[in-house]
Amino acid sequence: MDEEASKDLFDQALKVLHGNDRGKYIVPAGDLYPHQWLWDSCFIAIGLRHLDSDRAQTELKSLLRGQWANGMLPHIIFNPHPRHRREHRLWQSWLNPHAPNGVITSGLTQPPMLAEAVVRIGQKLKPSERRTWYGHMYPHLLAYHQWLYQDRSLNSGLIGLVHPYESGLDNSPPWVTVVRQRAWPWWLRVLEFSKLASLVNVVRRDTRHLPPGQRMNNVEAVAYWNLLRKLRAQTYDSQAIFKKPKLIVEDLAFNSIFIRANQRLGEIAKFIGKPLPADLVENMQQTEAGLEQLWDEASGQYYSYSFGDGGLIREPSIATLLPLYAGCISKERAAHLVSLMKKRSQFRANYPVPSVPIGSEFFDPHRYWQGPAWVNMNWLIIDGLKRYGFIDEAQDLRDRTLKMVAKSGCYEYFSPLDATPAGAANFSWTAALTIDLLKN
Ligand code: GLC
Repeated sequence: MDEEASKDLFDQALKVLHGNDRGKYIVPAGDLYPHQWLWDSCFIAIGLRHLDSDRAQTELKSLLRGQWANGMLPHIIFNPHPRHRREHRLWQSWLNPHAPNGVITSGLTQPPMLAEAVVRIGQKLKPSERRTWYGHMYPHLLAYHQWLYQDRSLNSGLIGLVHPYESGLDNSPPWVTVVRQRAWPWWLRVLEFSKLASLVNVVRRDTRHLPPGQRMNNVEAVAYWNLLRKLRAQTYDSQAIFKKPKLIVEDLAFNSIFIRANQRLGEIAKFIGKPLPADLVENMQQTEAGLEQLWDEASGQYYSYSFGDGGLIREPSIATLLPLYAGCISKERAAHLVSLMKKRSQFRANYPVPSVPIGSEFFDPHRYWQGPAWVNMNWLIIDGLKRYGFIDEAQDLRDRTLKMVAKSGCYEYFSPLDATPAGAANFSWTAALTIDLLKN
């Protein structure tokens, strides 16, 4: 991309962030997503640090107002305006005694990108400012990582998720599959085979803004809502949920990100001279070792694991590439994942990287996490490729990602076949990570 085109793209991205800025945090997209989301704000801060490191810090500090007393960071902090009453009442975070007073949040978490975002901002600060910044964030990060171990870790050393929303890849094939297997009551089957499913559009917010073909299908959306209702009835209490485990998934993407977040937390602790608690270090090592249990030798892929069924969910998705970002797999394994990225039947497409292999029966170029390319996934893969020394591949993926955004604008996701845009326009993480890629 020449200098002028890069500058145009940069300006476009800047405009998106300004438009979505609500003062102390940036919403993912004005109409569709009017609240603060956990991993969105982390990606947003990674871009913002190039523009204004104070504002980037504010973005992440805003997340802390939602932190629960037990350390949990919720995936949404709601805009308190009464016009969002319906969503507040759907979640009812106040049912759990750990939820913060006067701040309405969701009751679930999302991929732990926070430690990475904290370090990325730190890289932009002078050592003395960095010490203050890390010192401020460290106790909150520590509490969050400890909560994940305390409340959600399984014998494998991996973290278990209790709802697809926690994965951030809501309707990715492995999640849709496991929800169908484990949380699909009879009445959903009736709904699916009757003509009634389309009525669900009346209560859905997202399909008011976007064509239904770009979102989850209605029956799946109801299944997710139903699962959420159950978790709410258990007041999002992990102990109660794990006592009667309906659906627990050792999610590949989440755990890959968590492994990297643990490394980043270690760097922060070292910088401020506060050794990590010994039991946490032990847990972290177990998580790295646990990733190996998600490897399937027969198909040469990583998968998520369904705790209830005691087996891997053998549905390929982009998550298979995220152990590159985790950074703890062997160089040979990493090279194997790179080879998957280069195969047309797998993850090679005109525009990178399809969230589902083009050959999968789930593949649909515009349907949310069932085919489209997402800029945050590309960013994670690029970072992993670089650390494994696949510099040409990282450069190529960066260039092709920028080309895709330049062609279609800062959309939420893109068809990997022709880069046609889909989902929300003016999407913040696409803009922020575009800025970061342009600056690197
Ligand atoms: C969608 C995405 C999720 C994201 C949220 C806000 O739900 O699946 O990952 O955090 O939108 O952008």
